[in-house]
Amino acid sequence: MCGIVGYIGNRNSQEILIEGLKKLEYRGYDSAGVAVFTENGLQVKKAKGRLAVLESQLVLTPLNGTAGIGHTRWATHGKPSDVNSHPHTDNSMKFSVVHNGIIENYMSLKEELTAKGHNFVSETDTEVISHLIADIYDGDIVAAVQKAVTRMTGAYALGVLTEYEPDKLVAVRLASPLIIGVGEGENFIGSDIPAILEHTRNVFILNDNEMAVLTRDGVDLMTLEGNFIAREMFRVDWDIVTAEKAGFDHFMLKEIHEQPKAYRDTMSSRISPEGDRITLNELSMTPEYIKDINRVHIVACGTAYHAGLVGKSVIEKLARIPVEIDVASEYRYRSPIITKDTLVIVVSQSGETADTLAALREARRCGARVLAITNVVGSSVAREADDVITTWAGPEIAVASTKAYTSQLIAFYLLGLHLAQTLGSQTPEFIAEVITAMRHLPEQVETILGQAETIKAFAEEIAVHNDLFFIGRGLDYAVAQEGSLKLKEISYIHSEAYASGELKHGTLALIEEGVPVIALATQRDLLEKTVSNIKEVKARGAHVMGIGVEGEEELKKAVDTMFQIPKTLDVLSPALSVIPLQLLAYYASLARGNDVDKPRNLAKSVTVE
Ligand code: M6R
Repeated sequence: MCGIVGYIGNRNSQEILIEGLKKLEYRGYDSAGVAVFTENGLQVKKAKGRLAVLESQLVLTPLNGTAGIGHTRWATHGKPSDVNSHPHTDNSMKFSVVHNGIIENYMSLKEELTAKGHNFVSETDTEVISHLIADIYDGDIVAAVQKAVTRMTGAYALGVLTEYEPDKLVAVRLASPLIIGVGEGENFIGSDIPAILEHTRNVFILNDNEMAVLTRDGVDLMTLEGNFIAREMFRVDWDIVTAEKAGFDHFMLKEIHEQPKAYRDTMSSRISPEGDRITLNELSMTPEYIKDINRVHIVACGTAYHAGLVGKSVIEKLARIPVEIDVASEYRYRSPIITKDTLVIVVSQSGETADTLAALREARRCGARVLAITNVVGSSVAREADDVITTWAGPEIAVASTKAYTSQLIAFYLLGLHLAQTLGSQTPEFIAEVITAMRHLPEQVETILGQAETIKAFAEEIAVHNDLFFIGRGLDYAVAQEGSLKLKEISYIHSEAYASGELKHGTLALIEEGVPVIALATQRDLLEKTVSNIKEVKARGAHVMGIGVEGEEELKKAVDTMFQIPKTLDVLSPALSVIPLQLLAYYASLARGNDVDKPRNLAKSVTVE
């Protein structure tokens, strides 16, 4: 996710901006830039790549000045490139903007401003903001920003400078984080506390629809209507490492808690304003092409493969198209039957996984159309696929994937519904019902996160065991496989996931007194059968934790410990039932004293075959 830093004071701003951006590197980025008031006016320097590239340019031609804004960009609209990097300016170069978030109506604003003579140079949504503010400005930057934001829909944290008022730095936020650092004769803005912690521990947290006007001598907080806000300053007593994790002990826990936002970000701009249709406008697949698809192949590795298992079921249930699924390292070597009517879906958080990329190339070589579901705009997978659905989970730092997996599930729901509405395989009423239920998922995840203590207690119990089993049927089996991988990966406890009905064909022999079994039972039509399987393992001494939908009394009676997820449609339950499993793995790893974020032998991005 993009990082913002801003400074107004009496010191050289260039160094403060670069140092601040370095502290935000953990958020992920692909390019960076700064804008500084120099004696020659507002000057901008930006470069694709690591901060070191920008730094080396600034060594050659420094931007000297005591006020400026800086940005690290995580590409959304438009590939990573110098020109798409922030800060963005208007044509007069008098206004400069850094932005974190997405302006959903940027196309219509761009058309309007182009008609008025504004000339756009980048592919970004952000550039419209600098032009819009310049267009509105009539001598008061605060008023211009206030008016501009009323024209914008979406999410934003903004830092704005204008050469006409060089003693002001204006900041505003809606649904993207922004904090204000208060110093002595100098003030700061930042996407996150680490960006400014070296200079001050006194911070205002900006809320949605609030703005701040910073001068060298003070900070005014106000509403978008211009009413001043009196707020107590927050004194940061975390160290820098804790601050990067927003107060969480580990990136993994932070990322688990970021899932409600990731769900909202991934789905919100892809649902019609009436809430009854999916609008995957980014796809170039025509209805004619969709009608000709005779099979879908899903190909991915690890956790992304597990998201694909759910995706298979979702596409088959909703769109009624047959789906095959493979781990990417096997796909090429089994001579899959790929024709031009095969839609190959590759799923990858990083977009750089070597096996997935090789499978993508093989599919294209055989004439298939490839759709990528990835979290990284501009990644190799995104560049080489015919179509891309980007998951807006934000950068995932912990090796164990959490928010990327659940955002991939959301992407599959969106795709399944899109195919269904194009093919007419589901009624409009049913599609609207699924969308309504999907929109409740973020708050339902928050409810689950509020019960983390129950999971923690169970995790501490299982942490002393060396073997454990996950069981489930249908979609629950798919989620069980992800739960098992998560646990193995970071707690190093051996675990296996089994289709509940398969137990008696061999695995039941491993169940003995005290063996922990996690039983997923969220699928109503399979509940009775799953309860029978739970009784089978209980009869052999297993200690069972059930994960089911609230109100299922039979299940509750059958297990030793019950974790209830809120009610949703069966097809959507993986987006909820996986959350306790992520927490289980996290707390078990913690109880065993492991390095949660960097498990042994594993890398975040696997770029070798
Ligand atoms: O970046 P990708 O999604 O392509 O990565 C695939 C796997 O390496 C990845 O999901 C891995 O299994 C995770 N570390 C699991 O948490």
